[in-house]
Amino acid sequence: MASALTPAALTLDNVGYAYLGRTVLDRIDLTLAPGEVVALVGPSGCGKSTLAHIAAGVLEPRHGHLERSYRRHGMVFQEARLMPWATTRENIAYPLRLAGVSRRDRAARAEAAAARVALDIRDLDKYPAELSGGMMQRAAIARALVAEPDFVYFDEPFTALDVALKRRMQNLVIEASRALHFGALFITHDLSEAVRVAHRIAVMDLHGRGIVGDRLLPGMPGDRDEATVYTLAAALAKDPAFRHIHDVDERRLP
Ligand SMILES: Nc1ncnc2c1ncn2[C@@H]1O[C@H](COP(=O)(O)OP(=O)(O)OP(=O)(O)O)[C@@H](O)[C@H]1O
Ligand SMILES: [Mg+2]
Repeated sequence: MASALTPAALTLDNVGYAYLGRTVLDRIDLTLAPGEVVALVGPSGCGKSTLAHIAAGVLEPRHGHLERSYRRHGMVFQEARLMPWATTRENIAYPLRLAGVSRRDRAARAEAAAARVALDIRDLDKYPAELSGGMMQRAAIARALVAEPDFVYFDEPFTALDVALKRRMQNLVIEASRALHFGALFITHDLSEAVRVAHRIAVMDLHGRGIVGDRLLPGMPGDRDEATVYTLAAALAKDPAFRHIHDVDERRLP
């Protein structure tokens, strides 16, 4: 966690963005301490993915200022985005190949990353088409972790998964973040998911005009039992700053 002496892992200061002249993000201020997991919630279309792409350097902001003091980031998208022509092992090892790591080291590190997300070593020779949805997401997480990032962007990675599998994947993320000490920006529009995985929740305006709420969650991710998750998510759903989220998931709280 941050102190006055440690620089923030990521700072967005008055960031704005426009697609073809249409403003989709405006006056976004957000700071993440090293090791901190912040869930970013907001309704569909409010600009969460655009914000993650700006933060990760995929898009240039039109306004404002950005500072990253993390060493290396990984990224997990909503769809697994695996290369269909490559085996699961090759997919996971891809960032290492880009970084010029030797073939033997790549294989060993891909296997270690796969073990971290409970992917069976026998599945690593399979092609993406031979994997289940949950296995593909595990492979995508392993690929994001293989180069040992100290920061990870998660862009609604589990939306397509069923409730039980989603829960298992959330636990894997929590365990990996504790073991590997990475911080994260975890985008979701599911308040229960946000409450499970994060230290803090930031909520975006309906039209991307700023962060309209920021709530520090009690306790640590992984230590909150289901009753606590339910109570916290129910309280947030009634919080005026979170009213506009209107998410189906929180109406189906466990
Ligand atoms: N490549 C693009 N060109 C033009 N407009 C875009 C582009 N990508 C996104 N937009 C627009 O920018 C706005 C924000 O989109 P963005 O994908 O960031 O939202 P989001 O909050 O991630 O939504 P969701 O929860 O559905 O993933 C939307 O109005 C969208 O239509
Ligand atoms: Mg999105």
